[in-house]
Amino acid sequence: MDCVVIEDDSDGEDDTGTGGCRGIWPLHYSACTYTRPGPNTRPKSKEADMMDRHLRELLNDQFNKELYSAYLYMDFADYYHTRGLHGFGNWYDVQVQEERDHAMLMRAWMLKRGETIELLPIAKPDKTITDDADPLHFALAHEQYVTGLIHTLHDAAEAAGDTDSAKFLDWFVKEQVEEEENATSMIERYDKAVAGGTLEALDTELKARRWKAPSLRVDIF
Ligand code: FEO
Repeated sequence: MDCVVIEDDSDGEDDTGTGGCRGIWPLHYSACTYTRPGPNTRPKSKEADMMDRHLRELLNDQFNKELYSAYLYMDFADYYHTRGLHGFGNWYDVQVQEERDHAMLMRAWMLKRGETIELLPIAKPDKTITDDADPLHFALAHEQYVTGLIHTLHDAAEAAGDTDSAKFLDWFVKEQVEEEENATSMIERYDKAVAGGTLEALDTELKARRWKAPSLRVDIF
């Protein structure tokens, strides 16, 4: 088989294949199945400063989970638009944009540090919605879960002595406080509107929400 093994020893990791043609670049595509090299097989940038391996894996995972969050909120937005509650749909459409921003910030940070993101599959949202209140409760539980992930990431940055990454993640720690407050507030507003017969008015109010660029900016170059 005319294949060459590409190994990147700059990170001290074993990049050899783990089955099939993983980690192998085929010279003739008919000879073995093409698998795009992951981040560990790509040449490092000249500026690479060797981010802690565990931290790098967590950041990569968080990038993927932020995109999953966007998928999840898109599912909620679609539910509400289908129900004719376009204000609630708009609320979650804006959430989708915010989650994409979170993912792109993670990616930018990795690239700035000379690392690359491995583009893993994004899971399919699996929430069963049987009531208009369900997405609101799922959203709060999801944000609480994400808060835990962000704190784990922050702890990993501190444990690695990576103060720049810890400072970068400070923004996400604060952002999660806001995310949980918003999710809690949405449940309270919905319950009050249902009890007071003002759901239509609340839905109209929610149509006004607009996407705003995140206050954090990471320049890759
Ligand atoms: Fe990316 Fe809703 O937190």
